[in-house]
Amino acid sequence: MKIIVCKNYDEVSKRAASIVIGYLKANPQLKIGLATGSSPLGLYKNLIKAYQNKEISFKEVNSYNLDEYIGIDQSHPQSYYSFMYEHFFKYVDMVKENIHIPDNNLDRIDEIADDYNLMLHHNQMDIQILGIGSNGHIGFNEPGTPLDSETFIVTLDEQTRIDNSRFFNNIDEVPRYAITMGIKNIMYSKKILLIASGQEKAEVVSRMIKGKITNKLPASILQLHSDCTIILDEEAASKLL
Ligand code: F6R
Repeated sequence: MKIIVCKNYDEVSKRAASIVIGYLKANPQLKIGLATGSSPLGLYKNLIKAYQNKEISFKEVNSYNLDEYIGIDQSHPQSYYSFMYEHFFKYVDMVKENIHIPDNNLDRIDEIADDYNLMLHHNQMDIQILGIGSNGHIGFNEPGTPLDSETFIVTLDEQTRIDNSRFFNNIDEVPRYAITMGIKNIMYSKKILLIASGQEKAEVVSRMIKGKITNKLPASILQLHSDCTIILDEEAASKLL
């Protein structure tokens, strides 16, 4: 693992963006795995800025999101579909057909995980963006998920629902299920870039990097990836020493 510690979230976001921009310039047909949540927001802002300055284009990029809630429509303001359009896609020149977000259509519940998984088998990511949950999840691979999991429908951890309730009116509105890339799918990416910031991530970040590899803390598997970069602010790195 390569660990980069930056002063604050702003610097984390700029550093993450400069890495992605470098890869995108080297390969305009980049296949990129995307995350939602608070952690990558600054990265997306910086990528939008670089696009607006005509430094980069997303015309030939294919994107694949990690996960999506089940039980709310794509049109719901808190769906990850809405999140991605609201915070990134609507500002850049991504081609709609090149955007892949797990389907959450209940009428196809028996097929959606296998369909997404098959697509991932045919499309290896060049780079996968990740955040980390306070319980150590990556994507929605909650503690206890087998480390060789592939795309599946997950019952969300109570802790995840509590953490994500900040985006909803109350916890009862937070979906109980989601579809997520599995740990094996994530590990298949050529490169991984995980972003974490804030004191509340310090403990889990330290266990991810220094703890033993265990499915009780799914992010710990990243220790085994051959090209994984972790970008932290000083607060998130504060328990590493
Ligand atoms: C989001 C995702 C999650 C988040 C994690 C951290 O697509 O897969 O694993 O990355 O829950 O969320 P934030 O960044 O909001 O702290």
